[in-house]
Amino acid sequence: MHSILIKVDRYRYKMDDVFLYLELLNNITMGIFAVNLDMEIVFFNSEAEKITGFTKDEAMGQRCYEIFRTELCYKNCYLKKAIKEKKKFTHVRNTILNKNNKEIPVDITVSPLYDIKGKIRGGFESFIDNSLYVQLEKELYKNYSFEDVIAKDEKMVNLMHTLLRISQTDIPVIITGETGVGKDVFASAIHNRSNRHDKPFIKVNCAALPVSLIESELFGYKKGAFTDAKTDKLGRFQEANGGTILLDEISDLPIELQAKLLQVLDEKEFYPLGSKKPIKVDVRIISTTNKNLKDLIKNRLFREDLYYRLNGIEFEIPPLRERRSDIPLLIEHFLDIFSKTYNKTVQRVDSNVLKALLNHDFPGNVRELKHIIEFGVAVSDNNEITYESLPIDFRKKTESKNNIKDSYIKASNSYEKEQILNILESNDWDIGKTAQILNIHRTTLWRKMKKYGLFNTHVA
Ligand SMILES: Nc1ncnc2c1ncn2[C@@H]1O[C@H](COP(=O)(O)OP(=O)(O)OP(=O)(O)O)[C@@H](O)[C@H]1O
Ligand SMILES: [Mg+2]
Repeated sequence: MHSILIKVDRYRYKMDDVFLYLELLNNITMGIFAVNLDMEIVFFNSEAEKITGFTKDEAMGQRCYEIFRTELCYKNCYLKKAIKEKKKFTHVRNTILNKNNKEIPVDITVSPLYDIKGKIRGGFESFIDNSLYVQLEKELYKNYSFEDVIAKDEKMVNLMHTLLRISQTDIPVIITGETGVGKDVFASAIHNRSNRHDKPFIKVNCAALPVSLIESELFGYKKGAFTDAKTDKLGRFQEANGGTILLDEISDLPIELQAKLLQVLDEKEFYPLGSKKPIKVDVRIISTTNKNLKDLIKNRLFREDLYYRLNGIEFEIPPLRERRSDIPLLIEHFLDIFSKTYNKTVQRVDSNVLKALLNHDFPGNVRELKHIIEFGVAVSDNNEITYESLPIDFRKKTESKNNIKDSYIKASNSYEKEQILNILESNDWDIGKTAQILNIHRTTLWRKMKKYGLFNTHVA
């Protein structure tokens, strides 16, 4: 007797073989389920049973969101989207609640399901348990954040350690660095880590105020000090009492006010405009500038004595192009932030975007990267940012470069090196475990360790 033949795509299958394929799907180590157009589960394999904790009998015929119970199910169901838009979505990260209400991170891929005639009949989802990866990711990133400062570059991590130490003191700090490198972020992190964290953190932008207003803004005035002074006005120093004041763009503080600031630093008191009574304050001072104060001193635009009083410790935040290994981490951080802002689930940038970003010189530093990612998330209709969804002026700049490949290889090598080193260190240099976590063969790991010179006395 001939067996029944059925045709799927261009291929003919024996009916007996179809059962074989079903058996294969059932035994594959990846959760798989299918739904009909009413989102009712019509296929549920044994790995899906394992990951979710629900048996096939419990799952079949149920709406998929009753079994998976994820946030995405209600907000932005990718399976529904795949069916509606006739599109496949790969590697979407999600967290399901298993039968015991335990959160399990999963990586899912969804596609529409067609019948032989090409008519849509439902959708298909495959998913893997991502717990190990997520745990590893947490391990990798956990040591690197200092309040809102995200960084992993060695220079930055050293800076953070210094900051951690000095945040507990009242030492005045000068933070320098190009525009957008994160001077403000560091300043508020110092305040938040200090014993003054529950007192005010007051920021004064010395460049934004007209010279005639800076004095009254900083030190306040007495009623009647000048014609418009109808009542007393508190200065920013008084508002900051007990806390921290951030003098942003300190280089723009007019020279005549620099003497008054020096007095506050020396005597911890000052006279508001029109007042004969000194006001006592206890304020920690952090100053930031992207100009070179020593050059200004040479040109007599900045008082040298004030500089030394402000400069208990001075440090420079390096530009982003000198710490490219921070780029992937910052991308992830901003994807997270803007996905929440725009109520989306954009989780990655595609490889062309990563290449372009790793290669870019970022004259606007982290602020520029942040804006690019915000733009990408806002316009993206998928779970990843593609090159086409980047701002046009950025694309123009990167397209004119032809050295993308080299820098990319360099940057991704240093990223890989650090990743391997971190995993080795957190697993006591256990080669087997590390190779397993990285999902590569031991010999490949050895080869990579040799390439990057990663050896330790623990390793024979
Ligand atoms: N390491 C970082 N981690 C997270 N966000 C950062 C980091 N560095 C900078 N940012 C973000 O980039 C933007 C610019 O940072 P910030 O305002 O601190 O820069 P700045 O050096 O003070 O710039 P400017 O000289 O123009 O005042 C901010 O939105 C900030 O949140
Ligand atoms: Mg700033």
